[in-house]
Amino acid sequence: DKAGFKHFMAKEIAEQPTVLQGALSHYIGADGVVLPEPGLAFDQIERMTLVACGTAFYACMVAKYWFEQIARLPIEIDVASEFRYREPPVTKGTVALFVSQSGETADTLAALRYMHEKADKIVSVVNVPESSIARESDLALPILAGTEIGVASTKAFTCQLTTLAMLVLKAAQDRGQMSPQDVQTKLAALRGLPGVMNIALGIEARTQAIAQELSEARDILFLGRGQMYPLAHEGALKLKEISYIHAEAYASGELKHGPIALVDPNVPVIVMAPRDALFDKTVSNMQEVMARGGKVLLISDQKGVNEAGDGVWQSIVMPEVDDFLAPILYAIPAQLLAYHTAIAKGTDVDQPRNLAKSVTVE
Ligand code: M6R
Repeated sequence: DKAGFKHFMAKEIAEQPTVLQGALSHYIGADGVVLPEPGLAFDQIERMTLVACGTAFYACMVAKYWFEQIARLPIEIDVASEFRYREPPVTKGTVALFVSQSGETADTLAALRYMHEKADKIVSVVNVPESSIARESDLALPILAGTEIGVASTKAFTCQLTTLAMLVLKAAQDRGQMSPQDVQTKLAALRGLPGVMNIALGIEARTQAIAQELSEARDILFLGRGQMYPLAHEGALKLKEISYIHAEAYASGELKHGPIALVDPNVPVIVMAPRDALFDKTVSNMQEVMARGGKVLLISDQKGVNEAGDGVWQSIVMPEVDDFLAPILYAIPAQLLAYHTAIAKGTDVDQPRNLAKSVTVE
């Protein structure tokens, strides 16, 4: 049931504030983040390995920035289809964490089985609680996104990130990297996220207008730095999947090491950059693009657009949010741009060609 929406994807994008709310109230108790039994004591962990595919992998990529910066926990990430074939050595004190919407992705399940007996503990972040990946984990953390039908993952991604964010705060507290008061401040920011996300959904008309023009491009580049770099990947993947436009993501600083050769007036460059500590660096990369005739779509908050919006082709103004949570919020423009570009091209949004919702073959 599409509940009055044209596509499941549109319904699932719109549902995000509500399902996020559910995930937050599931995990946040009076004294902080509460995990289901048997729990996880982060002060006894040396490192964590995060493995997934596709969009779930980009959630892991964001989590790497978070865990390392906020909880000072060393993280290794890999796509599931590569992980076990490189026969990674696993040392004592390693926890393996698998992220999967379906919980049935063949490569992710095989990677999990590779880590049985090797890792101290197997944790999974899943949407389907009765799935194989959940059943074969020591600790399964539901993301509570509800059924996701659109092949392009939307609400599962933001619920994965929200669940991982809460795990990061627990890790920071267990490892003595954050005081209980600071944890409470971040939890308050998380609790405010559904409201901010509702405001962010107000960019839809703007993304729709921009998407009309994007739909004529053959190639599109996405740029991001730090924790926004994975969001650039997510934006590019979403666009490829449903609009069939070739899109690539680069870390902003990597541009001048090759990809800048692609820049010309026909290749829109989408820059995802809230006004955070890395903003100026990203802006200087963006100016390099503009100096070469590239047309830039800047996605930032009001401060960022005021400071750096001169000369850009288009901008999208996002509500302000705690820096830590920007990757969750900036999933919204990534999703809406892909959705409206696909609509402008007339492709099958919910059932894109060559793709399946759950990839159960390797
Ligand atoms: O069910 P999973 O989360 O394990 O699926 C992983 C990927 O197949 C999935 O995220 C895929 O990349 C999506 N279609 C992206 O929108």
